[in-house]
Amino acid sequence: MTYNKLFNIIIIIALALLLPGSSCFAAEQYRLSQFISPETCGDCHGEIFSQWENSMHHIAEKDPIYLLLSKFLRTGLTDPDEIVEAESCVKCHVPIGVITGYPEKVSDDKKKIPELALHGIQCDYCHIATGAKKMYNNDLALDPGNGEEDPGIKRGPFADSVSDFHETEFSEFHTSSKICGTCHDVRHVAFGTKLETTYEEWEKGPYNTADPQKRVTCQGCHMYQKPNIPATGATVRPENRGQASDDGPTRKHIFTHYFVGANSSIPNDKTKQKMAEERLKNTASVSIDHKQIKKGQLTFIVKNTGAGHYLPTGVTDIRQMWLEITVRNERNKVIYSSGKLDKDNYIPEGTIIFNTVFGDGKGNPTHNIAKAREILHDKRIPPLESLREMIQLPAGSWKSLMVNARLLYRSAPQKILDVASEKGKFKLPVITMAEIEKKINLR
Ligand code: HEC
Ligand code: HEC
Ligand code: HEC
Ligand code: HEC
Ligand code: HEC
Repeated sequence: MTYNKLFNIIIIIALALLLPGSSCFAAEQYRLSQFISPETCGDCHGEIFSQWENSMHHIAEKDPIYLLLSKFLRTGLTDPDEIVEAESCVKCHVPIGVITGYPEKVSDDKKKIPELALHGIQCDYCHIATGAKKMYNNDLALDPGNGEEDPGIKRGPFADSVSDFHETEFSEFHTSSKICGTCHDVRHVAFGTKLETTYEEWEKGPYNTADPQKRVTCQGCHMYQKPNIPATGATVRPENRGQASDDGPTRKHIFTHYFVGANSSIPNDKTKQKMAEERLKNTASVSIDHKQIKKGQLTFIVKNTGAGHYLPTGVTDIRQMWLEITVRNERNKVIYSSGKLDKDNYIPEGTIIFNTVFGDGKGNPTHNIAKAREILHDKRIPPLESLREMIQLPAGSWKSLMVNARLLYRSAPQKILDVASEKGKFKLPVITMAEIEKKINLR
């Protein structure tokens, strides 16, 4: 080897060592050709494929709300720390793309994203995971195969599974909430602000107990759900007897792959939309405490009966869960009303809403998570707990009151949708999660 060649090699090694530190994004670690398309997996795992198809995981890169928000966040940023965050979304929403070198950031040309990576969070990403290096910002340790010729090991819940296509291995990691948690806890890459904490909420909550009778993992709810079986903490979660592959043995339980949350409109799939509604309708209860009605006070108690984490969870800076309250007197005249959507489909001031508000570090609220340096406000309901919300009625003397309260959910505010296109053009469905109507006699 000549001195020049050696020098070049040293430079290359030095650069390679420097890169991970100097670049904010993961450098290419794997080749695209190592990964197998979900359709191929679907050839033998047909039922699982059709459950996963069009799920939020499948469409994580094509999701219109994601596309809209990731574009909106970048506009006008100048602070390099904020730009790094605004560009980081692809790490979870396009994971196979990032680890195989393209895209590196959100602003990269979408047309150049390889077809395979467009399938979002897919079979041959989750099933080659061996563990999590840290429990936030998607830090899965991976062990992919070498394409269809040499598919490598697919890890899962069985110790006795045999496939002549790929190797199999029991993986405790796949049976634990950790495989979900490394993506479902999101921190600002520069400021460390906790942007999503679903895993942490579950980890510190009552479903994470050592008692096997009471312990429920993420999979214990989300991978037991099927049409007409919402499988929440408030319902039964029956086993799903069946086959893992089209000609495999019949097993006691096959984990379903719908991955339904609360999104009842974005997956372009009627079954999944209906399943999200079924989930939301088996998540919470509302009751009324009218002990202080002589003082004109009514208290609404909202309980998280079904979610294994806070309610709401995930991107709770954009989710909207609120109380719509109407109080009528004995002549059916409305004497109090709050939380009714206005003519523009906006939630009015003064509404009781459960959400998170981020701040820019100077106490000003911000809708741009790239600027999120602090949490200004966080009103959400921990698993199996309740929040009490009091309202004050106007003065008056009534014989009786009819109180109606509805707990409503919408995936994003109309304001955000209006930024995207013509005002009022896009509307998201509003789901009634729980409702109560009660007559209170005052005399
Ligand atoms: C988000 C990660 C994730 C994705 C994406 C995913 N799986 Fe799974 N899969 C799991 C987990 C986790 C389990 C085991 C759950 C447990 O044991 O608690 C599982 C179980 C399985 C099993 C064992 C049988 C069963 O369902 O219990 C097979 C087979 C399987 N998956 C195939 C697939 C195929 C095929 C795809 C793509 C169409 C896919 N998976 C997509 C996480 C995933
Ligand atoms: C040629 C058919 C075939 C193809 C293609 C195929 N599998 Fe399988 N797979 C099987 C069979 C058969 C089993 C065993 C089922 C059982 O034991 O119940 C299996 C089992 C599994 C398991 C369970 C492993 C365990 O030990 O728990 C996982 C996970 C899995 N496959 C994932 C995948 C993924 C991901 C792909 C695509 C990259 C894929 N499979 C493609 C036939 C196939
Ligand atoms: C590679 C990262 C990653 C892993 C691993 C992962 N998720 Fe997700 N998950 C996402 C992303 C990103 C989305 C949002 C996609 C979107 O809405 O655009 C999502 C969406 C969801 C949703 C739908 C939320 C809604 O609004 O309806 C559910 C439910 C869900 N994940 C559950 C799970 C469970 C359970 C596991 C573990 C078995 C898991 N996820 C593992 C990244 C991940
Ligand atoms: C006891 C049952 C249960 C467990 C355990 C559970 N969930 Fe959920 N999950 C629900 C219910 C019910 C909803 C719908 C209401 C809501 O949005 O919280 C939901 C909603 C979600 C959503 C959608 C939030 C939104 O507004 O879009 C995500 C994402 C999610 N869960 C992920 C997880 C992850 C990750 C875990 C494990 C760390 C987990 N879940 C554990 C019951 C559960
Ligand atoms: C560490 C992983 C991770 C990163 C990085 C990430 N997300 Fe997500 N994203 C998720 C998970 C998990 C969910 C599902 C939670 C839920 O549904 O509430 C989600 C959901 C969303 C949703 C809700 C989609 C819907 O249809 O309701 C939007 C919008 C979104 N992300 C935008 C972004 C943007 C913009 C960025 C970059 C600034 C980003 N995400 C970075 C993991 C991530």
